Formats: sequence, C-alpha cells, structure tokens
Amino acid sequence: MNILFYIICVILFLLILVIVSKIIKLKNIEYKNKEIFSNKKILTVYYSNGGNTKNVAEKLHSIVSGDLKEIELTEKYPKNIFKMSKLVRKQIREGYLPQIEKIDISDYDIIFTASPIWNSSISLPMEYFLKNNNFENKVLIPIFTYSGGAFKKKVWNEFKDLTNAKEIKKHLFMFENGIFLVKEQIINWLNNL
Ligand SMILES: Cc1cc2nc3c(=O)[nH]c(=O)nc-3n(C[C@H](O)[C@H](O)[C@H](O)COP(=O)(O)O)c2cc1C
Repeated sequence: MNILFYIICVILFLLILVIVSKIIKLKNIEYKNKEIFSNKKILTVYYSNGGNTKNVAEKLHSIVSGDLKEIELTEKYPKNIFKMSKLVRKQIREGYLPQIEKIDISDYDIIFTASPIWNSSISLPMEYFLKNNNFENKVLIPIFTYSGGAFKKKVWNEFKDLTNAKEIKKHLFMFENGIFLVKEQIINWLNNL
C-alpha cells in the first residue's frame, strides 16, 4: 500500500514536471520567420459564428501579417444558437451550402483558412469557400477551432478532397479559443510547419 502510494506520488510529480516545463518552453517561444513565408503574399481567411475562430485568426494574422478577410454570409444565421444549430443540421441533411460574399484570392500565394468544426466537419461557409475557389497555384494552411469532438483525421481528409490546392500544410486544431497561451501555441505550430 505504502509503495503504491509512493509510486503514484512519483508519477504525479513527474507529470507535473513535464507539464510545467512544456508551459515554460511555450511561454518563451519566438517566431522564426519561416522561409516559406518570405516574399509571399499571405491571406488569412476565417469564418466565425461565435467569435472563437475570429480570435484565433486575428492572433495568427498579427504574427504572419499579410491580409485578413472574414467570410460573410449573404444570409446570416439566426443569433439564437439552438435555432442556428438546428438550421445547420437541416442544411447538412439536405446537402445545402450557405452562399457567401465573394473574396478575391487571386493575389495570394499562401492562404490560411480558419474555420470552426460543425457536426464533426468543416463549417458550411468554409466548405463553400473551399469548393468555389481555384487554389491551383496556392498553398493552403488550415486551422480549426472545436469544443471537444473533432475527428481530426476525417476533417483533414475532407479538407484535402475539397480543393485543388498546389500544397496543403499541416493543420492546427485549437480547442475553442485556445484557453491560454493561444499566440504561443500558434507560433509553436508555425515554427514546425
Ligand atoms: C452548429 C455547431 C456545431 C458544432 N459541432 C461541433 C463538433 O461536432 N465538434 C466540436 O468539437 N465542436 C463543435 N462545435 C463547437 C465549435 O466548433 C467551437 O465552439 C468553435 O470554436 C466555434 O467557433 P466560432 O466561435 O468562431 O463560431 C459546434 C458549434 C456549432 C455552432
């Protein structure tokens, strides 16, 4: 019994040590201006219904610069989240994609796309954007925000199938608005692209 208690304490201590050292490392992280971004025209496009993805996209934009554009719907979703979720489920069932205002992407080499996860998939407005633009000569870099039930591999495969991008870089999944050290988490991901 005593030995078991001792072992559990040691494991807990080691776990805390690992977490604290990761946080310290993240807190001191610096953005390495990556070669892939130099002399490139960068666009960050986001869709956000509740503000989480907007927050993440704005933080990303403050790091990588370039332009920031929001996907806007021609017809807005209801403000009430229950009505909105019901409508989204109906649209998914019927295979309907909500129309969005046109965004001109012709100027850009690298496009970050930030979208919430809806019903274990890419949000419908972002799906519309991906399906209805030509990414032939572009590099796409997706970011998703979610609240717990994101099927990362499924979403990744869906994303790849939706576009004709020249290249797609590894995604970032950010829990809702990231909870804490959002900017540092983004920098860590960018440094490892
Ligand atoms: C209609 C709807 C469906 C959602 N489905 C999922 C889901 O399947 N899995 C998940 O992890 N989060 C899901 N969420 C939560 C959002 O992905 C999460 O809160 C996201 O950060 C919202 O971004 P936003 O505030 O920019 O709209 C859903 C949210 C909504 C509104």
